[in-house]
Amino acid sequence: MELKGKVAVVTGASRGIGRAIARRLAREGALVCVNYRNDGEAANSAAAEIAAAGGEAFALQADVSSVAEIERFFESLDAVLTRRRGDRAFDILVNNAGISGHGTIATATEETFDRVFATNVKGPFFTTQHALPRLRDGGRIINVSSNLSRRPLPHAPAYCMTKAAINNFTESLAADLGRRGITVNTLSPGLTATDMNARLREDPRMTQLFSSLTALGRVGTVDEVAEAAVLLASPRASWVTGQYFEASGGLGLVLPGFGVN
Ligand SMILES: NC(=O)c1ccc[n+]([C@@H]2O[C@H](COP(=O)([O-])OP(=O)(O)OC[C@H]3O[C@@H](n4cnc5c(N)ncnc54)[C@H](OP(=O)(O)O)[C@@H]3O)[C@@H](O)[C@H]2O)c1
Repeated sequence: MELKGKVAVVTGASRGIGRAIARRLAREGALVCVNYRNDGEAANSAAAEIAAAGGEAFALQADVSSVAEIERFFESLDAVLTRRRGDRAFDILVNNAGISGHGTIATATEETFDRVFATNVKGPFFTTQHALPRLRDGGRIINVSSNLSRRPLPHAPAYCMTKAAINNFTESLAADLGRRGITVNTLSPGLTATDMNARLREDPRMTQLFSSLTALGRVGTVDEVAEAAVLLASPRASWVTGQYFEASGGLGLVLPGFGVN
């Protein structure tokens, strides 16, 4: 149990990758705060699933695209942690909450552009700002990006831009927080089976296309991404900071027409 005694906050952990990361951190002994935006039932079931496996977790609502909600979230978190652990400090922040923002350069709207930037960029920025006075020295920040931050697709340029911003944010934060022994890394999934891309994966041609561009020849699972997160959160990664760490099965390494999959 590499994270015994640690406390972790995972944003957007009611479903998908965040839920798997929460589950995996808890299995290593961390007390996990499962943040969610809308689906309290799913978040409570994530916390219950962790408890049933012998871990510790609790759900806490906040829409991280709003600074007022982030402030309220941390006040509630302070109260829960002080009750359970005697103070408000925690050790691991995973900025995972994110949404896709569809629309090509021709069809994207101001509303979708603002929403995807508010959730995927403003959210991690201000969540981190509020986390820092509470994060223990020697702590961990993991920012969830995307393979599309480096290999953008024209179907959703705004989404790809938000993830490129996250990669950059990781580097400036790592430089700033090294003096406190806090590591900051980007965790970048490739196509991973979640609700976010369920519609895309309904089309077998799209699954086949993404698999054929992936060195390991298939779509990833949330548990595979969560393994990479736990590695970055663990003491084994104490000398790793400011890095872009991809858990994508090698998406984009296979050139169309040259694939062996
Ligand atoms: N799946 C992929 O293939 C893939 C690939 C690369 C990167 N990623 C990134 O991985 C992260 C997780 O994606 P996913 O596929 O697991 O997504 P998902 O299955 O759609 O789950 C999204 C989670 O984020 C929460 N959330 C969304 N907006 C929020 C907000 N404003 N405040 C707080 N929570 C919010 C949702 O909570 P509610 O259910 O309560 O709304 C849910 O728990 C995202 O940053 C995404 O960009 C995913």
